[in-house]
Amino acid sequence: MDAQVSDAPRAAAFAARVLACKARIEGVLERALTLPDPGTPRLRQAMRYSVLGAGKRLRPTLVYLTGESLGAPLARLDAPAAAVELIHVYSLVHDDLPAMDDDDLRRGRPTCHRAYDEATAILVGDALQALGFAVLASEPMDGVSAAVRLEMLRVLARAIGTGGMAGGQAVDLAAVGQTLSIAAVENMHRRKTGALIQCSVLLGALAAGVSGGGELAALQHFGAEIGLAFQIQDDILDVAGDPALLGKSTGADAAHAKPTYPSTAGLAASRVRAGELRDASIAALEPLGERAAALAELASFIVSRAS
Ligand code: IPE
Ligand code: IPE
Ligand code: MG
Ligand code: MG
Ligand code: MG
Repeated sequence: MDAQVSDAPRAAAFAARVLACKARIEGVLERALTLPDPGTPRLRQAMRYSVLGAGKRLRPTLVYLTGESLGAPLARLDAPAAAVELIHVYSLVHDDLPAMDDDDLRRGRPTCHRAYDEATAILVGDALQALGFAVLASEPMDGVSAAVRLEMLRVLARAIGTGGMAGGQAVDLAAVGQTLSIAAVENMHRRKTGALIQCSVLLGALAAGVSGGGELAALQHFGAEIGLAFQIQDDILDVAGDPALLGKSTGADAAHAKPTYPSTAGLAASRVRAGELRDASIAALEPLGERAAALAELASFIVSRAS
């Protein structure tokens, strides 16, 4: 099947599945954030403000679609789905700080440090990162052994540390005002954004009992390619997107002299590259056959999205 063409019933079934994932994770996050309050209502309120906004919930959706496609019950996927979203929101709150991207708008409303204050936003990030790991370490995952849970924790830690997200953000900050090669931009994007997206796929697979071999390698490849494509599309939308749909300001990358895919390769070449990566990600799913149909649909959504 052509990667970009879906027949109508299949597209409708996919849209319904994505909506169901989104509805499910909202409830799981609400419960995860119903914390006993040890006398810090402002921090607790700022965490809820940051997480319970209008996010796309792409990373939890990847966990659910991957795991469910491989036979895991949805309830088993709640903990990893919540963990990746909590950690993603931590990264957004810190990414928006004056010391990083200095943004005022996120998910259609003032960024955390604008609505609260900088110190609170730093602590929100710290606490959400801890909560993400706590949820993955402790919430029920029936049918998942302690050894697999430990592997999931390790995969998550690796994805967001110096080799992954935090390191990628450091490269991003060090690159301000510089000209990078396309290879260097791709490397930065694979780390700062791709690693957590790939991790979301891997956590779904591990929860479903995929323990190595061809299927895990295929999903690893899928996650890597679609993770890079996701950040290229984010860069494209910063140039050519609609702030009302995005819920964040556009033009911010150029205003901050950030090397991005469009600033390095041009807008047209960025679109071509995103399409190539979509096709490569879908091709990587081949060993999974029909079970990977929803992931292929999601890959197409990632590079065609307007928000
Ligand atoms: C934005 O991620 C930050 C990047 C890693 C590019 P999303 O576009 O997934 O943001 P939300 O979660 O929908 O707000
Ligand atoms: C954010 O990339 C990556 C992480 C948060 C790790 P961007 O800085 O491009 O994300 P936006 O555009 O602010 O959402
Ligand atoms: Mg940034
Ligand atoms: Mg940013
Ligand atoms: Mg961006």
